Amino acid sequence: MIHDWMNMFSDNIRNYGGYSIGKLFALLRDPEIISLAGGLPSPDIFLKEETRIASHNRLEAEIETIMNYTPIKGEKALINAIIEFMKRENVKLSEENVLVTSSGQHGLDITGRLFLNPGDIVMLDRPTFAGAIVAFQLENPVFVGIDIEEDGPNVAEYRKKIELLSQEGKKPKFIYVVPDFQNPSGITMSLPKRDALLDLSYEYDIPIVEDSPYRDLRYFGEPISSLFEMDQKRGGNNVIGLYTFSKLFCPGVRVGFNIGSEEVITKMTNIKEGNVLNTPKYNQDLCTAFLTEMNFHDHIEKCKKYYRKKLQVFLNTMEECFPPEMGVTWTKPEGGLFLWVTVPEQINTKELFYEAIKFKVAFVPGEVFYGENSSNNHMRINFSYATEAQLAEAVKRLSACIKNQL
Ligand SMILES: Cc1ncc(COP(=O)(O)O)c(C=O)c1O
Repeated sequence: MIHDWMNMFSDNIRNYGGYSIGKLFALLRDPEIISLAGGLPSPDIFLKEETRIASHNRLEAEIETIMNYTPIKGEKALINAIIEFMKRENVKLSEENVLVTSSGQHGLDITGRLFLNPGDIVMLDRPTFAGAIVAFQLENPVFVGIDIEEDGPNVAEYRKKIELLSQEGKKPKFIYVVPDFQNPSGITMSLPKRDALLDLSYEYDIPIVEDSPYRDLRYFGEPISSLFEMDQKRGGNNVIGLYTFSKLFCPGVRVGFNIGSEEVITKMTNIKEGNVLNTPKYNQDLCTAFLTEMNFHDHIEKCKKYYRKKLQVFLNTMEECFPPEMGVTWTKPEGGLFLWVTVPEQINTKELFYEAIKFKVAFVPGEVFYGENSSNNHMRINFSYATEAQLAEAVKRLSACIKNQL
């Protein structure tokens, strides 16, 4: 009989708590609560009938291979469809540059395993995607965060910090960014900042991990080239791209893909062999069908129209319910699923979360989105899942709750 399991666990894992958002979500079972907390796409626009048909056809035609082990790197048909899909982005790939993953989160996990020894430095934005923080934390790195501004991370600060680290004989293993409609802030990195970040990457030989689940969900303004495309154009191989089918197709299939230089993808494939081995063929086949049979161009346009309206409802109600004297500010994203609200400093949003539940509204307290030195007066808001009427009502409840605190 083992009495002290804790002592048996690895040093890395003993203090590892996983995704703290999950624990908060457990408090949201009351159906009267309007939750702006999750990152869920809306099932209203899932391609349900198309997926039923694709599912039926695949099961009829390929039941034996679906039920078996399949190649670690991914189904050839899906890899080819991904190569075509990325041509829209002016990204040129061959099979050697693509690894199918079992979701964006899996892609992050593989990336952390590939680069990080305990104590290695990861540079990332403040705030950044909490799921990336917990994925990398499995390897016990040191996070160095750089504040994000209205047009993306403060690249001059990235440079300063890297120079300082270099004087101490240290070098970050990689820089992790979500350039388009970042989760959690909704902020998009400007073109000059993308260029400047690439300059930095070339000067100091530091890979950039570009995590890009939301690129296609742009509701306002003009698209900006991905770092991956810009790197290719400049003749580099410094950027690793992480993609997922979760936000455009559906998260239930748990399929994504990592792209990068052949050396990177080969090693990532070795890592995948040691963790999930292969991504289920059935799930991959549905993604292939999404890219080749479901008219995804139309679908993306529908998603954009649908989410744009929700974002507008949310922003309009914010204007009505948060007069300037309340001291509350918020980002105005051009796409994606999230925005970032900042409340006066005396309010701690973790404490506010429990108050907000009494007002039957929920958000994610901002502190989980910091790799280090967290800030306590922010909240992440998701506007894709609740209905338009719920969004407007949620903002009213949030405003009442915050007024009560001031
Ligand atoms: C920036 C970012 N990366 C990765 C993911 C993970 O996506 P997936 O659901 O495919 O694991 C998400 C999901 O919210 C995300 O926002």
